[in-house]
Amino acid sequence: MQVIQTITALQAQVKAWRQQNLSVALVPTMGNLHDGHLSLVKRAQASVDRVIVSVFVNPMQFDDASDLDAYPRTQHEDIQKLIALDCDVAFTPSAEVMYPQGMAQHSVVSVPGMDDKLCGKHRPGHFDGVATVVSKLLNIAHADIAVFGEKDYQQLMLIKKLAADLNIATTIVGHETQREADGLAMSSRNQYLTQSERVKAGNIYKVLCNTAEQLKASDVIDFEKLETAAMIELNELGFQAEYVEIRNAVDLALATSDDKALRIFVAARLGKARLIDNIACNLA
Ligand code: PAJ
Repeated sequence: MQVIQTITALQAQVKAWRQQNLSVALVPTMGNLHDGHLSLVKRAQASVDRVIVSVFVNPMQFDDASDLDAYPRTQHEDIQKLIALDCDVAFTPSAEVMYPQGMAQHSVVSVPGMDDKLCGKHRPGHFDGVATVVSKLLNIAHADIAVFGEKDYQQLMLIKKLAADLNIATTIVGHETQREADGLAMSSRNQYLTQSERVKAGNIYKVLCNTAEQLKASDVIDFEKLETAAMIELNELGFQAEYVEIRNAVDLALATSDDKALRIFVAARLGKARLIDNIACNLA
């Protein structure tokens, strides 16, 4: 596996692959790789000839400087994991490579309608940072596909809209959330949990599944009532629930009784960790 740090070197490698008619995938990450990330790499390898994994802790998407400082950086281990998977390139640019004139001078991509709800409402500027860095990575890599996790479903839908709006030729592929045995979605942030918090954390998935069961069992759905009940349950379990929302799975609009493809979203704090999760709920 090659470790590439500059944009020109990555572009030269992709050009060489193209000349050999090889197809290419991009898997953007912020590193601290776990089995959720690695499942995206395997998904990419199943579809294309060559896979690039970017590892870049993007300062533009952090709304809180202490969160950026605390974010786990484990590049050596990440590279070992990617070598073990037979990945082709780890792209590990510095902030200077990605933002040579600094972030304040950089153009910003924003995705209206996708960035003002759910996590967008609670993390101002976060999705502009995500949209900007992902636009750059897609433009640099010119990949056939780019793979993103459903774990960050709002991010996935925002990137799909961005690619469609900006006529980016890369196909955006979503991949299912990888979970621990108790249902907790794998996340770099799970390591902020103490042992007793970790035991509690699996309840997020249980509350999501209960809410989906209740949605399926209701003749007349009162979305707000179900959302409030789930928030109360999480708070009683020791979380500080930020939101529980049931939305249309495609445009993330508030769910109505006509919607069949729904998505249930949760964000909740537990100790030092802010945990997010979501599941699909398809009504007959
Ligand atoms: P990061 O949090 O490192 O996640 C990288 C990718 O891994 C995202 O597509 C995310 O949805 C996916 N992922 C994380 N946990 C997962 C899990 N348990 N199962 C399946 N996929 C999972 O998301 C980002 O980085 C950044 O915002 C990024 C897109 C790289 C832009 O900076």
